Amino acid sequence: MPAQSIWTDVINIRSWHKEDLGYETQKPIALLERVIKASSNEGDIVLDPFCGCGTAVVAAQKLNRKWIGIDITHLAIALMRNRLKDSFGVDAEVIGEPVDLASAKALAHQDRYQFQWWALSLIRARPLGEKKKGADKGIDGVIHFIDEVSGTPKRVVVQVKSGHVGVNAIRELKAVAADEALGIFITLEPPTAPMQTEAINAGCYHSPGWNKDYPKIQILTIEELLHGKTVDMPPQTQTSVTFARAPRVSTKEPGKQLGMSSG
Ligand SMILES: C[S@@+](CC[C@H](N)C(=O)[O-])C[C@H]1O[C@@H](n2cnc3c(N)ncnc32)[C@H](O)[C@@H]1O
Repeated sequence: MPAQSIWTDVINIRSWHKEDLGYETQKPIALLERVIKASSNEGDIVLDPFCGCGTAVVAAQKLNRKWIGIDITHLAIALMRNRLKDSFGVDAEVIGEPVDLASAKALAHQDRYQFQWWALSLIRARPLGEKKKGADKGIDGVIHFIDEVSGTPKRVVVQVKSGHVGVNAIRELKAVAADEALGIFITLEPPTAPMQTEAINAGCYHSPGWNKDYPKIQILTIEELLHGKTVDMPPQTQTSVTFARAPRVSTKEPGKQLGMSSG
């Protein structure tokens, strides 16, 4: 029977579904696939100007359409970028994100949460957002990695600061990271010498799985991150924190994607 104007056969996303990423308003991919198939042909351009976690752009990519996605929050943009990478191995071009120190400062000045989401995305850390409880209070983001073959994931905890920073911030991070593998401090302002000394004095985390030492507390400036510096840590495994890793999606012939914009 042809589809009628009310569709009840597409099941809404539930928390136990593999495609659930944890984005509040995420739509089922089957729904967006049907909309795109019904209204466009291969090679056409699909525009979703409120694309959230990017279900429309993922469906468009899968169905060999070109696409443009727009969202106003850096949380959605970061999530989509990871989703496209995880689903198709696509490195999406993002227009509207900070590209240098001046534009990073402008974003921090405009909205420090947006700045935080963007900064966390530079190291692929997942924002903890409002799901923070108890011991996670002083943490802005988390990266997981597996240290031993049979081990449970270990955590790298991340703090982001867009304002003035001092040695106390590193002492606080040391306390927060005491029971974790590593603590990362991302700062817009350059760190002071006492901050660097405090970080060095925190010593190293020894990874039994990789038989290697990693500095326990690492300070990374936004400028360094923009120039490609990364966290010194074992290879990342993104297990579900706030947002899950998107499952791999196969396409017959991947369509060329255009890019997305942060609104
Ligand atoms: C209902 S959600 C879209 C959900 C999407 N279909 C999915 O599967 O994830 C709407 C999105 O619009 C974004 N948004 C709200 N106002 C916006 C604006 N003025 N420009 C661009 N995006 C906006 C929000 O951040 C949110 O991610």
